[in-house]
Amino acid sequence: MTQASAKIEARGLTQAFDGQPVLDGIDLDVPAGTTLALLGPSGCGKSTFLKLLAGLSRPDAGHLSFGGDIVADATTFVPPEQRGLGMVFQDYALWPHMTVAGNVSFPLEMRRVARAERLHRVEEALTRVGLAGMGARRPSALSGGQQQRVALARAIVAEPRIMLFDEPLSNLDTPLRASLCDAIGELLAQLGTTAVYVTHDRGEADVLAHTIVTLAHGRVENIIHR
Ligand SMILES: Nc1ncnc2c1ncn2[C@@H]1O[C@H](COP(=O)(O)OP(=O)(O)OP(=O)(O)O)[C@@H](O)[C@H]1O
Ligand SMILES: [Mg+2]
Repeated sequence: MTQASAKIEARGLTQAFDGQPVLDGIDLDVPAGTTLALLGPSGCGKSTFLKLLAGLSRPDAGHLSFGGDIVADATTFVPPEQRGLGMVFQDYALWPHMTVAGNVSFPLEMRRVARAERLHRVEEALTRVGLAGMGARRPSALSGGQQQRVALARAIVAEPRIMLFDEPLSNLDTPLRASLCDAIGELLAQLGTTAVYVTHDRGEADVLAHTIVTLAHGRVENIIHR
């Protein structure tokens, strides 16, 4: 599995809800193949920023490019499925009626990848997240940590240029959190994918990130390069 990575450039990204500014001109660069951790108090706009990257919402102003190509500005809007992204959220968001393999295979089916290649890539992704041979199970027969590993496998299987994480470990117990955090770090290092990782946990940011950005009052308050 060789995955391309793309730099992210955000310039002046602005978003308001009901006249209340939430993001007030965010400028950020994430060099290709690096991980940026996004910290900040509840309600400061972390998930709002991630949704702009994901293409789940449109900025009111500013522009956003991936690998030098504009994905959102005043006139351009590239939809999520064309942005080359993998996403992992807090609540796993697995489909309960599908097997583990079915969940991981879904992004490949959307891209009309042939069945033999799908089977191969699904097993490869499951192996990468430590779930080799678990494809036939239902998500309900897995622990929370294993379910999040399935979500991780689903996020990498289509070889995204960019991965987005929104507090992926916050539903897990502390020991599990540490081991999955290490697993995510190893995976990102192996794949070389560009990543933005939202967390409340400075320890996770320290393990994973090349750059740690703190948002406050809709602005970048602090940037630490490590
Ligand atoms: N779709 C929406 N409509 C109206 N207001 C919204 C919407 N989405 C977010 N907001 C508001 O924008 C602000 C920022 O929300 P956001 O979810 O980005 O915060 P956050 O930093 O991710 O917080 P947390 O750490 O609690 O997840 C909040 O005041 C929230 O109520
Ligand atoms: Mg949030």
